[in-house]
Amino acid sequence: MRAVDLITKKRDGGELSKQEIDDLVQGYTDGTIPDYQMSAMAMAIFFRGMTPDERANLTMAMVHSGDVVDLSPIAGVKVDKHSTGGVGDTTTLVLAPLVASIGVPVAKMSGRGLGHTGGTIDKLESVPGFHVELDNDQFIDLVNRNGLAVIGQSAHLTPADKKLYGLRDVTGTVNSIPLIASSIMSKKIASGADAIVLDVKIGDGAFMKSIEEARELAACMVDIGNRVGRRTIAILSDMSQPLGYAIGNALEVKEAIDTLRGNGPDDLTELCLTLGSHMTVLAGVAATQAQARTMLEQSIASGKALEKFKTFLSAQGGDASVVDEPSRLPTAAYQIEVQAKRSGYIAAIAAESVGVAAMMLGAGRVTKESQIDLSVGIILHKKIGQAVHEGEAIATIHANRAEIDDVREKIYESIVINDDVITSPNLLAGEIS
Ligand code: URA
Ligand code: CA
Repeated sequence: MRAVDLITKKRDGGELSKQEIDDLVQGYTDGTIPDYQMSAMAMAIFFRGMTPDERANLTMAMVHSGDVVDLSPIAGVKVDKHSTGGVGDTTTLVLAPLVASIGVPVAKMSGRGLGHTGGTIDKLESVPGFHVELDNDQFIDLVNRNGLAVIGQSAHLTPADKKLYGLRDVTGTVNSIPLIASSIMSKKIASGADAIVLDVKIGDGAFMKSIEEARELAACMVDIGNRVGRRTIAILSDMSQPLGYAIGNALEVKEAIDTLRGNGPDDLTELCLTLGSHMTVLAGVAATQAQARTMLEQSIASGKALEKFKTFLSAQGGDASVVDEPSRLPTAAYQIEVQAKRSGYIAAIAAESVGVAAMMLGAGRVTKESQIDLSVGIILHKKIGQAVHEGEAIATIHANRAEIDDVREKIYESIVINDDVITSPNLLAGEIS
């Protein structure tokens, strides 16, 4: 095989065979195919797209480029959840203990945040003592014992994707649906998932800005999953404003605790119940969505879900007393209100831009090496469509510096107030299975 022949084939609209895709991915991973040829291929794919077979073959070639986690020592169907981007997305923190509390095994590999999107591991590490440095046996043992464990992403998972994603980032080829879909699916499959629930976000804070694009990405991932023997379903959810009210690591842990207690924001609670119901049905723990939802609601009401969160935190070295005393979580020195400059109705809360404001406070990483401040962030007080009076607090900044004019300005830029009432966007915009 010569790489140039594969590039011209794709450039001219041809279909690559499984063997050709395997050779390409292997050659790129081991360095025999250089970045400049892979860049040309990514651009050819960007313009020509990929057939369903090509997408599935690319996904599995990337899965086999590195370690594949074997979760077979854990009984039951291992269902993983993935959200595509999003700001202040606290769902994993809520969902993992919630579904585990009714018997769905959760063996979760998670990442750290970069830029304005937070990572589940960073959030969990705001619980004093909590750590994710478990070896594989400990990880499996904890899931078997408690039904739930979270571990950091193995460095040897899907190296082909790691390399290709880095290349796409600097060659204008990130926004290709087959490349995004195979990238995400390869990581889920290599992490050992038997079944996958996808939460594809639409809107300002997400990769996909329109519902049409989001639906196409979702359909593409569902098709890949089902072709390679992993039952996959996707829901489409709104990211035209941040989910919940909290953006920032410890602040989101507190919001997750409130939600597990049944006092969480409506949108976060609804999304967790929806995603959780799908996970429960795919795991075979409930027969129908409705039955699953009732089980999850009962687990919140009885305190079982919150109990499971405590067990999980303690098992990984965390101080579970934060659940009953959230003041033990890292707390910022200053809490500063941002007041509405005018009366009216909230018309927009640009999620990405609010995420950037939180990052400016130190909640997110500018580079992979940045230290983050777990205590800082932003609590919003409004949702799209709500009325607001001049001088009323629309957000509270949690900061470790007294001078926060830059962050306040960023929040003013993010939140638009108009004279006219606008209807709040629907949280759930569809489902693909
Ligand atoms: N997230 C990924 O993991 N890969 C992509 O290509 C895009 C988003
Ligand atoms: Ca949130």
